[in-house]
Amino acid sequence: MFDLIRSKRAIRQFTSDPIPDEIAHTILEAGRLSGSAKNQQPWHFVAVRDRETLRALSECGAYAGHMAGAALGVVLVTEDPYHRLTVPFDLGRATQNMMLTAWSHGIGSVMATLYESTKAGDLLGVPAGYAVCWGISFGYPAVDTDRPPRTGGRRGAEDVVHWEGW
Ligand SMILES: Cc1cc2nc3c(=O)[nH]c(=O)nc-3n(C[C@H](O)[C@H](O)[C@H](O)COP(=O)(O)O)c2cc1C
Repeated sequence: MFDLIRSKRAIRQFTSDPIPDEIAHTILEAGRLSGSAKNQQPWHFVAVRDRETLRALSECGAYAGHMAGAALGVVLVTEDPYHRLTVPFDLGRATQNMMLTAWSHGIGSVMATLYESTKAGDLLGVPAGYAVCWGISFGYPAVDTDRPPRTGGRRGAEDVVHWEGW
């Protein structure tokens, strides 16, 4: 598991290979089975494989372009994401579980912030009262995955880890 975490990079370019149904379902199960505050499971996962819908989603955020080429897009839908501190935390847990499960099958992924959330919700037929926040692109990498983290790398342990207090 640690090696999956260590080696996982954000992948934004994908081959045209489809993700087999069984693996796609396993990825979604990894999200569904995630733990959450008070076990509230404040999420719905809209799975998208239709190319036109993925293209339209890619236009719902300034940095969402990679969704156009994804083999599978998973859009996170939640109630009330902004007024409960635990919701973004829970969505992050579900997201990372899905991404690591995908990576264990050699499938790359990256987040997209869907700034135009109303447009994305309309596109997917999400009912009123729900919020569309982020999407995740999944697909087989079309780029070298064995590369260091993005410019700047990760902050060192001496910078971010504090034992027994700050
Ligand atoms: C909450 C959140 C939102 C993100 N939004 C975007 C986004 O809109 N577009 C994008 O390309 N990457 C997005 N990312 C991906 C980060 O840029 C990526 O995880 C980071 O660059 C680390 O990549 P690396 O592991 O390849 O170094 C987002 C990540 C998180 C956690």
